[in-house]
Amino acid sequence: MSQWFETVAEAHRRAKKRLPVSVYKALVAGSEKGRTLNDNISAFAELGFAPHVADLPGKRDLSTTVLGQEVSLPVIVSPTGVQAVHPDGEVAMAKGAAAAGTAVGLSSFASRPIEEVVAANPKTFFQVYWSGDRDRILARLERARKAGAKGLILTLDWSFSSGRDWGSPVIPERMDLRAMLRFAPQGLSRPRWLLSFLRHGLPDLTTPNVVPPGEPAPTFFGAYGEWMQTPLPTWADVAWLREQWGGPFAIKGITRPDDARRAVDAGATAISVSNHGGNNLDSTPAAIRLLPAVANAVGDQIEVLFDGGIRRGSDVVKALALGARAVMIGRASLWGLAAGGPTGVQNVFDILRSGIDSALLGLGRSSVHELVPEDLIIPEGFFRQVPA
Ligand SMILES: Cc1cc2nc3c(=O)[nH]c(=O)nc-3n(C[C@H](O)[C@H](O)[C@H](O)COP(=O)(O)O)c2cc1C
Repeated sequence: MSQWFETVAEAHRRAKKRLPVSVYKALVAGSEKGRTLNDNISAFAELGFAPHVADLPGKRDLSTTVLGQEVSLPVIVSPTGVQAVHPDGEVAMAKGAAAAGTAVGLSSFASRPIEEVVAANPKTFFQVYWSGDRDRILARLERARKAGAKGLILTLDWSFSSGRDWGSPVIPERMDLRAMLRFAPQGLSRPRWLLSFLRHGLPDLTTPNVVPPGEPAPTFFGAYGEWMQTPLPTWADVAWLREQWGGPFAIKGITRPDDARRAVDAGATAISVSNHGGNNLDSTPAAIRLLPAVANAVGDQIEVLFDGGIRRGSDVVKALALGARAVMIGRASLWGLAAGGPTGVQNVFDILRSGIDSALLGLGRSSVHELVPEDLIIPEGFFRQVPA
């Protein structure tokens, strides 16, 4: 079988076939009934195009900037904390994105040190949660700054809602002998995945970037526990964090115009309109349904990014037409990584690039910056408005 795949759906199929069931389920994620998870994807299908057929632009420019970094297409990797997808984890993801000429968000819960990730892709934005006391948060920022991170992403949309109607995967605290015996049947049913890890060593379920370099890395559950016990941040805390960082600063997880305005007041340079890929409060509408209201409120003051449900280039074009400057991809990048390592990630970006280019061509637009809502056929009642 050719390594190359022609759609994100095919990468998803291959990932499902290759990954042990626990790892696969951890990537599908989603909370409760998965209403938000499903709406994130199905909402895109409701938006239509009416392509032109002549007088079309011979060349289309897909390049833009995100948080001051030049990217060859308006798509970057969203930070995701699941690690056991590929033996090189976040380094492989960073390499694939670099080969595609774009940037990566690196989760605090990543398994690989930020120094290695920045070496693989200098366009790395470090993502943090409000976790631990201020000194610990500052130490994390300092490590990221020293490593050369080009921006900070503060993710705020998490309500610790953990149950799922279709069952959550069991994830071991660490890959010790007991865990290996317990998970052996799953690993043996996916020999290719198992072999790739056996060649490199078993997945490391630790989070090195939440502590200064050289300190022992806590386990994922250790880091999550610290976060759960931390008093929740206020907007004043957010402004403090932004000041401490000093560089490009994005707030991820905004769904409402009032919060978007507060993000501007706190000094953010960007926000991502996002519902954490359907992993936060279930019944939050698809992020794309909420995007225009937020973009109209703050789009002339800060960069408006978007994530949630992007599976093809036409989805990217729809989000841009509704006010996003660029989008971030979560699961699409993970499926690519699982299906083919760095080449698989690059493959996903190539699919999106070609889909964006086709949509621009059909819409008669020569640049991603020209897209407007009038490029879309929007059914009545599509958008959701938060009551004023
Ligand atoms: C498995 C998984 C892990 C994630 N981990 C993080 C994380 O550590 N930090 C974060 O800000 N967002 C995290 N997210 C959310 C993504 O960054 C992004 O918002 C979401 O995946 C976008 O939706 P999509 O998967 O449909 O593209 C995670 C999402 C998934 C699916």
